[in-house]
Amino acid sequence: MENRKELPIGVFDSGVGGLTVAREIMRQMPNEKIVYFGDTARVPYGSKSQSTILRYSRQIVRFLLEQNVKAIAVACNTASAYALPEIEKDCPVPTIGVILPGARTAASITRNGKIGVIGTSATIGSGIYADYLKEIMPSAQVLGRACPLFCPLVEEGLWEDPVTEEIARRYLADLLDQEIDTLILGCTHYPLIRRTIGKVVGPDVQLVNPAYETAQELGQLLRDMDLQAEEAPALGAAESQYRFFVSDMAEKFRQFANSIIKYGILSAKTVNIEEY
Ligand code: DGL
Repeated sequence: MENRKELPIGVFDSGVGGLTVAREIMRQMPNEKIVYFGDTARVPYGSKSQSTILRYSRQIVRFLLEQNVKAIAVACNTASAYALPEIEKDCPVPTIGVILPGARTAASITRNGKIGVIGTSATIGSGIYADYLKEIMPSAQVLGRACPLFCPLVEEGLWEDPVTEEIARRYLADLLDQEIDTLILGCTHYPLIRRTIGKVVGPDVQLVNPAYETAQELGQLLRDMDLQAEEAPALGAAESQYRFFVSDMAEKFRQFANSIIKYGILSAKTVNIEEY
């Protein structure tokens, strides 16, 4: 009989950003296998409507279920904001998004209750971080700011560039004026420019990286459901342990993935996701 514990975890994003979540899962749960899907043909999700984001996310969930995953991590803030509540209603495997783990951490570490959230226009427009934070901490003051230029800057590799720093100064000025003491990096690309953001906000503002918290909560979920992988993968098995699929531009994805993940990613396969 199939041992469900040894099945892979499905991780998906609109493109490359979710690799920051996959990387945390690899670090924190080295025994787990991962099937990653990046929707590189239809990225960005951050400027699309809820119905489109939901349709895309449902197709990806169908693809991942076909890969026989034991759980699904929605490693995209925009998809977590707009699609996760619908997906989890009828998904046969446990699901987790990136928003609730980030909100919980921010509420637990803020000292003055003023929490900034940055993300795509869709994520900030959804108000979902504020909704969760108000539930967890009714006295919280939540200040959101969409930062649409950050994703292209990250994808251009300008992680510690003066241009990125200048854009960050402009985006974050209002939040700093309002004296936030905690800032949620509410988009999967942003941990990659964490250093630049940290330089702009200064040491008194604590940065929350939901990728880290999501991996922690996923680990707990797997333990609670007795689904945690027990067998350590064979030496040199990274290629079969981690499998990557995209909807377009496989080679560009592979190169980007290799710049942030330390295991050599030899291939990414292209899938026609519209067929799902
Ligand atoms: N991965 C998306 C997110 O975390 C950002 C990129 C996009 O707009 O699709 O919101």
